[in-house]
Amino acid sequence: MSRHEAVIAQLKSHAVTAAGNSYSPYSQFPVGAAAISEDGDIYIGCNVENASYSLTQCAERTALTAAVSDGVARSSVVALLIYTPGNRAHPPCGACRQVMHELMGEDSLVVSCCDTDEIKIWNRSEHLPDPFVPEVLLS
Ligand code: THU
Repeated sequence: MSRHEAVIAQLKSHAVTAAGNSYSPYSQFPVGAAAISEDGDIYIGCNVENASYSLTQCAERTALTAAVSDGVARSSVVALLIYTPGNRAHPPCGACRQVMHELMGEDSLVVSCCDTDEIKIWNRSEHLPDPFVPEVLLS
């Protein structure tokens, strides 16, 4: 197993655990995510739904929020893996792509996996062309 595959396997294990904690009574669609920082620290998240549906938090954003809360600097997340039970690896929603663009490194990877061998891997920049960027507000 290459180092790359080993990291993915490690992140998947964490994301599966996170999906087990998913609070998704309305969609019945549990999602787990695991983000890894350049220091090798791992942060997990699950989707957390609400009876006021629009307040639902996706797993990816929960994981990135955990990383930021622990002091991980912007752009220091090098990979984020999404796990959904079943036989399809789903791409992340647009809102999560926007948040990933802001908080993950330029060359970071986004990985999606499931219970089969299906796996999808993107570069963070690849799946959000022409993003709204922080520099617009910070310059
Ligand atoms: N969900 C995620 O956690 N991540 C995504 O990228 C897409 C959707 C969650 C939100 C909601 O709890 C459920 O999946 C169905 O949309």
